[in-house]
Amino acid sequence: MPGLTLGDTIPDLEADSTHGRIKLYDFIDDSWAIIFSHPGDFTPVCTTELGKMAAYAKEFEKRGVKLVGLSCDDVQSHKEWMKDIEAYTPGCKVTYPILADPNREIIKQLNMVDPDEKDSSGNQLPSRALHIVGPDKKVKLSFLYPASTGRNLDEVLRVLESLQKAAKHKVATPANWKPGDPVVISASVSNERAKEMFPQGFETADLPSKKDYLRFTKV
Ligand code: BEZ
Repeated sequence: MPGLTLGDTIPDLEADSTHGRIKLYDFIDDSWAIIFSHPGDFTPVCTTELGKMAAYAKEFEKRGVKLVGLSCDDVQSHKEWMKDIEAYTPGCKVTYPILADPNREIIKQLNMVDPDEKDSSGNQLPSRALHIVGPDKKVKLSFLYPASTGRNLDEVLRVLESLQKAAKHKVATPANWKPGDPVVISASVSNERAKEMFPQGFETADLPSKKDYLRFTKV
């Protein structure tokens, strides 16, 4: 898949949005960011996704994350659509900006183009892409879903917590990890160093190889 991928630095692009003209780096500043695209305004799955993102916005804010939505229609259309989104998910307010991309320039720069979806004029449409970007402006994780599959905001929050734990401690999260579960200590950390770094202790899995690389701790 060509284009922006894990570890790449996002471009410092400028775009019109529901919050006025936005320069991406200025908006993100030193925070984490979640940039998520949608195939189009006034479409069913997108309406549910933007409402759920609004409902989870406080959780992301608590974790120091700025949200940036994108749909390829213009700002006026986004503003009209927001009324539907807020009505469909009662109690939610779309407080994050939604970028406009009528010329499909941003979705190309952010690798968010869906090769299979076109509008009635044959123009390309965004996929349901989502990039989690670190304070260093590098892509830490990406989802790429087709138009037919809405994203799960619990999963977005879960992977964000995993990324933030990995960035703070020398740990990783195992299969099916949930916040609060034990994490694994990075293989690059020696047992001696692990004792210093994790005074709460750690447990080593007893494996047939007798290699002690699978160590669990709580952080
Ligand atoms: C939707 O949001 O439901 C949708 C948008 C574009 C294509 C297909 C579905």
